[in-house]
Amino acid sequence: MHLEHLGWAVTAPAETLALLKHLFGASVYKSERVDAEGVLTHFLDAGAKIELLESTREDSPFAKGLAKRGPGLHHLAFGVADIDAAYARVLEAGLTPLAPPKQGADGKRIFFLHPRDTHGVLIELCGDAPALPPARWVETPSGTVATYAFGHPASPPLLLLHGAAGCTRLETLALARELEKAFHVIAMDLPGHGLSASCETLTMRVFLDAAHAVVDACIPREARFYVMGYSLGGALALLVARDAAQRVGRVAVHATNMAWDEAHVRRMNLRLDADRLERRAPALFAAFEEAHQGRTRTLFAQVAEFAATLPELTRTHAITEGVDVPVLVSAGDRDELFPLEKTLALKNALPKASLALLPDVTHTLSPDDAKALAGIVRRWMLAA
Ligand code: CO
Repeated sequence: MHLEHLGWAVTAPAETLALLKHLFGASVYKSERVDAEGVLTHFLDAGAKIELLESTREDSPFAKGLAKRGPGLHHLAFGVADIDAAYARVLEAGLTPLAPPKQGADGKRIFFLHPRDTHGVLIELCGDAPALPPARWVETPSGTVATYAFGHPASPPLLLLHGAAGCTRLETLALARELEKAFHVIAMDLPGHGLSASCETLTMRVFLDAAHAVVDACIPREARFYVMGYSLGGALALLVARDAAQRVGRVAVHATNMAWDEAHVRRMNLRLDADRLERRAPALFAAFEEAHQGRTRTLFAQVAEFAATLPELTRTHAITEGVDVPVLVSAGDRDELFPLEKTLALKNALPKASLALLPDVTHTLSPDDAKALAGIVRRWMLAA
């Protein structure tokens, strides 16, 4: 459990925002209506996450409280891994939640404890597994792909790319949620992955054409943008930066291997054995099935075919060639898929590269790892 945000009730939002800007240089990175509660929320990052709450109708419990007590600190919100388990625990302890868990702002499921039970402080508990925002569909040469926007549209745009056999929901959602505090994040599901349309054959060309189509559809023409890619998405990020050199400011790649050999293909294939995954980790397999629309087996087979081409592809086409924007190369120091030497080799092959290593982090990022990594990336990208 951790302090997730502070809720602050406001009656003059423009003035409170001006004050926060003046005090902390903080501005709104996301606004969201929660009609069921009769509130309009605004999120700011002032070291801690602040949620400003503005009333949208007069008959809500929120409006009545606001009329009685006026503006001020409204609630403390704590993030928990499993909101339903937290609710059961609270009932067992004899406390009185205001209502069962329901959809709140920021993609989270939440419930409140009665301040009578909590010594005068309104406490919100919120689930740490937020939902994806609704998809926006983009036509690409290989079919329709799903894209998801995070953060304020006026923030600098950032294209976020997941890895092979992953998707936004499984791999980059936690990164997006952290990066949205500073960027207008456009995350996409690659062709054949996640909610995107199926695709006959997966190749680097197919992925790259789709990424360019998403840039054209979602980022204003001429606007500069940033790119971040995880694993295979890192290779794509470098290719996007090479093709759109005039527009790409900085690139971050994490757990990316640009020099594949047969051992990597073997290790990758082991991860792509759907039967083995279903046997050994049925819950994880079920999550894959849900995220990939029941196409896990087809996708794994396609990615295995694609991975088999990577030793030849990365030997004959230096993906780092022609990339001369600043690149942050990062990896977990316990990546079991790609040894650390590959990360260093990539860093050394790029003319303007910086390096970040995360301690005790494997190839798969936990939500906490993602949060730490996104913090590093955010700071590095905006340092320019
Ligand atoms: Co809240």
